Amino acid sequence: MNLTGRVAVITGGAGGIGAALAHRFAAEGAAAVVVADLDADAARAVAAAVGPVAHAAGLDVTAEDQVRALVADTERRYGHIDLFCANAGVATAAGLDAPEADWDRAWRVNVLAHVHSTRAVLPGMLARGQGYLLHTCSAAGLLTAVGDAPYTATKHAAVGLAEWLAVTYRDQGIRVSALCPQGVDTPMLAEGLATGHLGARVIAASGAVLHPDRVADAVIAGLAEERFLILPHPEVAQHARRRAEDPDGWQAGLRKLVRRLRA
Ligand SMILES: NC(=O)c1ccc[n+]([C@@H]2O[C@H](COP(=O)([O-])OP(=O)(O)OC[C@H]3O[C@@H](n4cnc5c(N)ncnc54)[C@H](O)[C@@H]3O)[C@@H](O)[C@H]2O)c1
Repeated sequence: MNLTGRVAVITGGAGGIGAALAHRFAAEGAAAVVVADLDADAARAVAAAVGPVAHAAGLDVTAEDQVRALVADTERRYGHIDLFCANAGVATAAGLDAPEADWDRAWRVNVLAHVHSTRAVLPGMLARGQGYLLHTCSAAGLLTAVGDAPYTATKHAAVGLAEWLAVTYRDQGIRVSALCPQGVDTPMLAEGLATGHLGARVIAASGAVLHPDRVADAVIAGLAEERFLILPHPEVAQHARRRAEDPDGWQAGLRKLVRRLRA
């Protein structure tokens, strides 16, 4: 898929990776880019900066009725949706003892929101025999986010769901990509680095912390090839291969890195 003339919706579009995608989709010639976010003011600012093809929507992706309303409104305005980017996500920076509310929020934003948005957008896509779902997961969904148990568990679930969707709907014209970056220079990671959180330090020590525009580059290339796994950090493929072939060895290597950073 290329973006020329396409109608795209991006959740979590008000900042970081989502905002970079909005700018890039418009630059690639998208007909419409809907920037949707919990932070409606920030979404409006991004849409204004992107230009006339963009418009903003305030929504909480954990509220299925709001997601359905966003999809219905977009289909009414533009006729259909070509690309739905379920990109909103939350980290908790906590382990097993994360408060129940944080486990719940991570599950609802990082996983259930992908279920809800796909349920809302799929009927229109199936009726047209085509559509594209881009689900922002994370390298944490293929590996492990040290220091964040809810993030690791929910991002693994998000990758599993995206794979299930790809297998189930590909033959009906629905393409699916799971975007799995490692470190990206956005408020989500910057906060952890500023407080010296172990997980953020492990990410920074594991490879380049990319500008969100480089993630957008990888997305454009991945969509063009209609590739399931989009890995802005190529080394994540090597880590995932090593983890699959030798889980104990891979875990030992990660524990060694953690010990080194703690020392
Ligand atoms: N930054 C990284 O290092 C990194 C790495 C891998 C994956 N990711 C993933 O990339 C995606 C985008 O994150 P980012 O790094 O740009 O972080 P970010 O915090 O800058 O952006 C996340 C956006 O999601 C929005 N959001 C959160 N909860 C929401 C809700 N309930 N409803 C609607 N919007 C909501 C926030 O307002 C924010 O604008 C997330 O899914 C994140 O898990 C980030």
